[in-house]
Amino acid sequence: MYAITIPEPGGPEALVWDDVPDPVPAEGEVLVDVVASAVNRADLLQRQGFYNPPPGASPYPGLECAGRVVALGPGTEGSGWSVGDEVCALLSGGGYAEKVAVPVGQLLPVPDGVDLVTAAGLPEVTCTVWSNVFMIAHLRPGETLLAHGGASGIGTMAIQLAKSVGARVAVTAGGPEKLARCAELGADILIDYREQDFVDELKKATDGAGADVILDIVGAKYLDRNVKALAVNGRLAVIGMQGGVKGELNLGALLVKRAAITATSLRGRPLGEKASIVAAVREHVWPLIGAGQVRPIVDRTFPMSDAAQAHRALEAGDHIGKILLTRA
Ligand SMILES: NC(=O)c1ccc[n+]([C@@H]2O[C@H](COP(=O)([O-])OP(=O)(O)OC[C@H]3O[C@@H](n4cnc5c(N)ncnc54)[C@H](OP(=O)(O)O)[C@@H]3O)[C@@H](O)[C@H]2O)c1
Repeated sequence: MYAITIPEPGGPEALVWDDVPDPVPAEGEVLVDVVASAVNRADLLQRQGFYNPPPGASPYPGLECAGRVVALGPGTEGSGWSVGDEVCALLSGGGYAEKVAVPVGQLLPVPDGVDLVTAAGLPEVTCTVWSNVFMIAHLRPGETLLAHGGASGIGTMAIQLAKSVGARVAVTAGGPEKLARCAELGADILIDYREQDFVDELKKATDGAGADVILDIVGAKYLDRNVKALAVNGRLAVIGMQGGVKGELNLGALLVKRAAITATSLRGRPLGEKASIVAAVREHVWPLIGAGQVRPIVDRTFPMSDAAQAHRALEAGDHIGKILLTRA
């Protein structure tokens, strides 16, 4: 098969479409013929040599895909999946390829009303947002979520899922165009982080209360202000470190608010945890997508063989939602 390989870490030109051996499904895995994949920010780090795949994962980039099951590996008879099924999947790597081996616990059916290519952009954002905002931070109806980077792949899903449970949603994004798209998706409080202080704006909009849950992709640079922006009993879920890894934490401020901070990475979680997250997403999120209440937001699509251009587009940062890669 062909796959995007990274012979030497570097810029987008480090991505090379090359002939490689086909993957062989191990115990509990099926082989998927990939129709499309999607670009995630973590792929840029992997390309630069800063985010190696976990042990046993494919060496090729790609944390999600959609396609058709073409072979069942050992121990997958009776798993409910058959050759020919159209699926999308959460991966630990290997999505930028013509074929990928996938643990059955990470397969999802293509939701009703979504085409196979578009489905490739759903697993990472749905699993990341559901696991952090709902399974870990327990966002409840009537509470306020602050999602940093509201126009990102993650942000566009966070807005919609939080609104679907009756939460109020605040977002930060860079510029009016991105904020307008966030508003279309249901965001109630729009903060241009380039022009405004998000703590002040959030406090003004919530009568001083702050956010019950913050989904943070910035990390160190926002740590102090995130704690300030939290409500009493607030939960800060850190999933990205675009603003650095080491920050200073005022424990006193956290303590008086009886607040909590968590930090997780989906890719490194054990198979059983990923399977539980995927099952929860199938139970809670797939019906919302099938009913049209939550939509996949796709910015652009590139041929997989030209993944370098797709990485340049993500790095340029003017996208809203997901950037997809297709085989065609
Ligand atoms: N831990 C996990 O399991 C996990 C899983 C998936 C994704 N993630 C993380 O989630 C983040 C989003 O991922 P993605 O694939 O959706 O990436 P993406 O679409 O490229 O989004 C990146 C976003 O970051 C925003 N941003 C940058 N600096 C900001 C700031 N100071 N304040 C607010 N927003 C800022 C950008 O918005 P502007 O253009 O408006 O600046 C952009 O929309 C990434 O950091 C990624 O690593 C983590």
